[in-house]
This record gives sequence, C-alpha cells and structure tokens, in this order.
Amino acid sequence: MIVDLNSRYGLNPAHSEVVEVCKVIEPCKTLDMGCSNGRNAVYFGQQGFNVTAIDNNPGAVDMLQSIITAENINNVTAHVYDINNANLEQDYGLISCTVTLMFINPDRVDTIIADMQKSTLAGGYNLIVCAMSTEEHPCPVPFPFTLKTGQLREAYNKWDVIKYNEDVGTMHNGAKLQFATILARKPL
Ligand SMILES: C[S@@+](CC[C@H](N)C(=O)[O-])C[C@H]1O[C@@H](n2cnc3c(N)ncnc32)[C@H](O)[C@@H]1O
Repeated sequence: MIVDLNSRYGLNPAHSEVVEVCKVIEPCKTLDMGCSNGRNAVYFGQQGFNVTAIDNNPGAVDMLQSIITAENINNVTAHVYDINNANLEQDYGLISCTVTLMFINPDRVDTIIADMQKSTLAGGYNLIVCAMSTEEHPCPVPFPFTLKTGQLREAYNKWDVIKYNEDVGTMHNGAKLQFATILARKPL
C-alpha cells in the first residue's frame, strides 16, 4: 500500500490537474516549476515519475528536501532556482508549472514558456495552470502577471493541445478567479 506522504507531512493534496496528468502520462523525467514545499513533486514521485523540483524560496526547498531525506525518496530532487532566469539546462518528458506563472516577472513570461518548450523532449508534455484577468472576470488578486483570453493556447499553437480551458472558480470570499489550464504535447 502507498503511504499518503502529502498527509503525513501536512502538505495539501497534489493539484487536481497533476493528479489527472498522472492518469494519462507514463512516468518520465519531470520538472516541477515553482514546487513550493512539494505537494506535487512528492505525488509525482510516488507515481513513479523522476522529478526535479525547483523554486526560488529556499525555505520551501529545504522543507521538501527534509521530506526527501526522511522518506529516503530516490526519484525526487529539490533545488533553488529562479524561473525568471529561463535557462533550463536539461530536457524533460513533462514540465509542470501549476499556479506559479502569475508570480513571475511579466516581461519574462514569453521567454520562460519558450525555454520550457525548448527543454521538452519530442513527444513530451507541458502542463500549465495560471491565473487570468479578462474584461469579464478581472483578477481580484494583484498578481504581477495574469493571462489574457486565448494567450496560453496561442503560445502552444505548434503543439498538440490535449486539454485547454479558461474556467472560472470562486474564492472563499465569493470573488471570481479565472484560470487558464493547458496540457499540450510537443510534436514528435
Ligand atoms: C502558489 S505556489 C504554487 C506551488 C505549486 N506549484 C502548487 O501547485 O502547489 C507558487 C510558488 O512559486 C514560487 N515562485 C514564485 N516566483 C518564483 C520564481 N521567480 N522562481 C521560482 N519559483 C517561484 C513560490 O515560491 C511558490 O512556491
């Protein structure tokens, strides 16, 4: 039986899109961008993915590292990295970036997405979930960056788009928050 490490270490459950991806993609070399303290990285690892988890918050990376060490996890590594650098040094079968791009320097987002695409193996996948701000649903949170309607899909117009939506959710205070979600596959 697989122990639920997320519960054991007080981590939130993995993002629902991460859980869905694990049902449709074979375990592969995976990059978790903006991993925080590891709710998705630990889950990917438990599903057999070989995970590099990166975040610019050393405290979060340290917490994930302490879980990796305590549980003797041999398929997850955690590193401090600033996504704004956009200079990934390896190629991956899956790059996952959930609820992180909106914290990024807006001037760097196109370059970061291009670097993610370049650093994905042919036939590999990108998963991105990011807040939007549109006329209909202005973002109620002052994130540095938000996506416009269709912007994320357009960025992947040369890839096979497996899933794309711009769903509107409701925050605890009743405010509406719109997210773009994409799962796309790089052509072979
Ligand atoms: C809302 S959390 C999302 C964490 C995780 N992806 C998830 O789905 O739970 C956003 C994370 O992005 C990280 N982050 C923000 N700016 C970053 C940057 N420039 N480089 C790397 N990580 C960054 C934050 O430290 C934080 O851990």
